[in-house]
Amino acid sequence: MTHTNGMLKEGALSGKTIIVTGGGTGLGKSMAAYFAELGAGITICSRKMDVLEKTAQEIEAQTNQKVLPVACDVREYEQVENVIEQTKAAFGGVSALLNNAAGNFISPTERLSHRAFDTVIDIVLRGSYNFTLALGKDWIQNKLGGNILNIVTTYAWTGSGYVVPSAASKAGVLAMTRSLAVEWAKYGIRSNAIAPGPFPTEGAWSRLLPGDMKKKFDPSQKVPVGRVGEHQELANLAAYLMSDFSAYINGEVITIDGGEWLKGAGEFNQLDAVPDELWDAMEMGRKKSGSKLKMMWLYLKGMRKMK
Ligand code: HXC
Ligand code: NAP
Repeated sequence: MTHTNGMLKEGALSGKTIIVTGGGTGLGKSMAAYFAELGAGITICSRKMDVLEKTAQEIEAQTNQKVLPVACDVREYEQVENVIEQTKAAFGGVSALLNNAAGNFISPTERLSHRAFDTVIDIVLRGSYNFTLALGKDWIQNKLGGNILNIVTTYAWTGSGYVVPSAASKAGVLAMTRSLAVEWAKYGIRSNAIAPGPFPTEGAWSRLLPGDMKKKFDPSQKVPVGRVGEHQELANLAAYLMSDFSAYINGEVITIDGGEWLKGAGEFNQLDAVPDELWDAMEMGRKKSGSKLKMMWLYLKGMRKMK
């Protein structure tokens, strides 16, 4: 067994119906496929019906579970309500929500139009609260419990230049996660978030690392464990949070990034670049052991390696 294997036992999500926004592509598709493999009925929704239909057929063929594709722009409340109604009609109810749909691009902030800002905020923050509110009202009115899982990012709490609308939106989604975890727990509704580090997807990487930037800013170089994420690792975590095994986890944001954001945060973490020879020379100087000549030689060798 490795990190690329499914983690939960067969049937771990059977009897559940999960709405996955942005479930036609990328990480949403991978999570939806694993939820279905574990026995859940799935609705996937986004703007492009052709993409959704193809993904639904693929997952159904792989898992034998029903996958309902519904076209929806998460920015539009009526369309969100329609997804919920169609899911109830097809499956008899909705047990859980995965707010995964997002829009993002890189740009110096001063170059953005106010419409560009609106676009990202509306997809990420408005889209997430549209689904949360519509489904939450339904669950509360009908005295049903529920489970909300929001996909954020690690810069939801650090912020990040060049993706400011996304950072502001994800911070809002994280605040909503923690707020509702407390407010709606009395209705049997849990609320959690996952903050992924870099996971290769066409949607994110074509927009955030366009053209040659992928070579220049290799995301794996920033990750202490030395690699980017595998979709199954994220799907395992999401499935656990969707399952009843995590019933006591509420209001949590779980980071899955190989230590990436902490590497950027720790004051001296860039000392990774100091070679052994330099540490040896410094130790020799501190302990006053060895000859001055050897110390100098180690020091120069270390400095050369650092360049
Ligand atoms: C500056 C841009 C822009 C760009 C669009 N705009 N792209 N501004 N730089 N690259 C501006 C437009 O000029 C326009 O403003 C406004 O934004 C709306 O643009 P539209 O193209 O009309 O928007 P729309 O068709 O709604 O498409 C939304 C989108 C698009 C966000 C722009 O990229 C999209 O559909 N994205 C969905 C998928 C996605 O983004 N996935 C990545 C998620 S990754 P004006 O003023 O001209 O009218 C992610 C990872 C984070 O979140 C963490 C990684 C580690
Ligand atoms: P992706 O494949 O581009 O997924 C984004 C999805 O959102 C698409 O399926 C898109 O479908 C949908 N979407 C966009 N605008 C929408 C709208 N207005 N209404 C409905 N659906 C809409 O990118 P991804 O990498 O898998 O991202 C998935 C999630 O992971 C996002 O929340 C992202 O912020 C998060 N994340 C990703 C990474 C990473 O490294 N990949 C890291 C951290 C966090 P349509 O175009 O059909 O609408």
